[in-house]
Amino acid sequence: MQKVVILEYVGQESLEFDLYNSFREKIYEKGTPLTPSMVLKFSTVAVYRDENEGELVSSVSRAKYKTYDDSLTSVYSHEIAEYLVSNAKKVIEQVEKGEIPDKSVCEATRNIIIDEISSKIDEVESIHQLRIVDDYTFSHGVNVASICSALAFKFDFQQKEIEDLTLAAFLHDIGKTRIPPEILQKPKPLVPSELEIMKQHTIYGYDIIKNQMGLPERIALVALEHQEKYNGTGYPRGIKGKEISLFSQIASIADVYDALVSQRVYKEPMTSSDAIKIMIAEGSKSFNPFVLYKFIYLVNYKSSDGIVEDPQIIGFSEDTEHEGAESATKIDSNLLD
Ligand SMILES: [Fe+2]
Repeated sequence: MQKVVILEYVGQESLEFDLYNSFREKIYEKGTPLTPSMVLKFSTVAVYRDENEGELVSSVSRAKYKTYDDSLTSVYSHEIAEYLVSNAKKVIEQVEKGEIPDKSVCEATRNIIIDEISSKIDEVESIHQLRIVDDYTFSHGVNVASICSALAFKFDFQQKEIEDLTLAAFLHDIGKTRIPPEILQKPKPLVPSELEIMKQHTIYGYDIIKNQMGLPERIALVALEHQEKYNGTGYPRGIKGKEISLFSQIASIADVYDALVSQRVYKEPMTSSDAIKIMIAEGSKSFNPFVLYKFIYLVNYKSSDGIVEDPQIIGFSEDTEHEGAESATKIDSNLLD
């Protein structure tokens, strides 16, 4: 028996193999429709297939051939991309000079991102159409904001939520402006003492957004929490599951993805499919499986019809549980079918 990572098959219409549980009992026949509820249920539970059924091509492997299609154009024209990156540069330079970032520049950036993504979201076939390839320091915030904005549309968030998440994502790394450049730009892995300094960027970011800019708590929280992990092993507070705000859970997925596929001083850019494989392997250790599932759908450019996308279900409601396996099963059995 071979373990199956069910998230790899997101986007496939039906099971291409019989599915077994850990007692080696067949639970689904080959050909059974692969519903979102089934994927969510088995994303946190071990399932298996008979390895004698031959090599199977998952949607992750297929993505390798699709994501570098040069014929797909960016949602941003050259002029708009330049404008967005120059705004990011302006904001970062203001903080470096000890000034308070200009809120109107941040909001103008947010509005352009939302306008461009919302008008083109239905035609987007690859996540790369949402990204700007430029100097990471300035393009990363724009890219994370663009991916978050697309996810917010996929989740059917209300306008105010789309706006706040996009702005939060744009500013999530603003605290890095207070990290010494020799640590930020170090072309080698950081030693533990440097890592501790680096971790402070989350707290600095919260301070800049909340106290200096006077923006709402939920926007500042994304800067504070985007390095937290779903199982509680992240930083700065080591909070887990629904203790991490939903905005932060979404931004952390976009953040990790953009960092993996970007060129950095210490690494070459990774292909989209390799990045997704790493993120799937991390699974619910790092990410909310439900948000990761939606993200993989976005990467695999499949329509997400058929899945309930009410923000109430996935965390805006105080009553909603969405932690790990329990939540995936709960969403599955109660709300998606
Ligand atoms: Fe980041």
